[in-house]
Amino acid sequence: MSKVTVVGAGNVGATCANVLVTNQMADEVVLLDIKEGVSEGKAMDIMQTANILGTNTRLVGVTNDYKKTANSDVVVITSGIPRKPGMTREELIGTNANIMKNVVDNVIKYSPRAIFVIVANPMDALTYLAFKHAGVPRSRVIGMGGALDSSRFKCYLAKATGANINNVDGMVIGGHGDTTMIPLLSKATVNGVPVTQFASKKKLQEAVQATMVGGATLTKLIGTSAWYAPGAAAAMMVEAILNDQKKMIPCSCYLEGEYGQDDICIGVPAIIGRKGIEKIVKIDFTKEEAAKFAESAAAVRKTNEVLREIKAL
Ligand code: LAC
Repeated sequence: MSKVTVVGAGNVGATCANVLVTNQMADEVVLLDIKEGVSEGKAMDIMQTANILGTNTRLVGVTNDYKKTANSDVVVITSGIPRKPGMTREELIGTNANIMKNVVDNVIKYSPRAIFVIVANPMDALTYLAFKHAGVPRSRVIGMGGALDSSRFKCYLAKATGANINNVDGMVIGGHGDTTMIPLLSKATVNGVPVTQFASKKKLQEAVQATMVGGATLTKLIGTSAWYAPGAAAAMMVEAILNDQKKMIPCSCYLEGEYGQDDICIGVPAIIGRKGIEKIVKIDFTKEEAAKFAESAAAVRKTNEVLREIKAL
């Protein structure tokens, strides 16, 4: 029996629950929100797709009742305010940090062994906060950003190279911010063949740039932040954990010396399985990538400092 709780029944949380249910990625999913009736309603709507789509996963919606989340194997935290057009993810920190602490307290109370997947923004800083606040081993707190950013990168690379999207491979590491994320062009391939063979340098650089502002582009188009890919990326991480898939996923991990960084949560490739972060994978950087990673870490640290300034930590 596997049980997953998704905290926050907004666009991202509800989409994550929907992907989990539709693809039967867990036996039981609880969708929790503080707004009376919203998670119940969305869960009801999603469950009314079960017979059409042929899924056996059970989804329950609850209003702030953490008892119903008891003994969850994985808890996805999406709760918080999303960004509006023109806003950075970092600007959300004051509101979302307080929400995060409250949610973590409630989750731990009923699911002391749960693995956390953190989605709320600013994602790296809130993963750091959740890790510090929860007081659990670092393997059990994972930030989702790199999974989403890598999927966006692969989408833009497929367009640039004309390749089948499922043949494209690539990773985005570093912070989950418009200027801090690092799409690793040097490692991007089409079925193992470097992407440079399929598109001009200029086109590939455009794909890198588009990836970095991928979230902002969507926020501008839609009027609020994106949810289909963020929700699906979180669900993919849940599946990797529950099924012990040992998938290599770039995600925000607490580092203890890896990549020359300590006491920070930032995106690096990691093996994700039943224990959460089972291994942080070390990859060789080009000189330029190493410099970018150091810069990205410095920027993430600045946001972590804000957590201290507002006394969230
Ligand atoms: C995005 C938000 C979820 O990148 O951070 O769309």
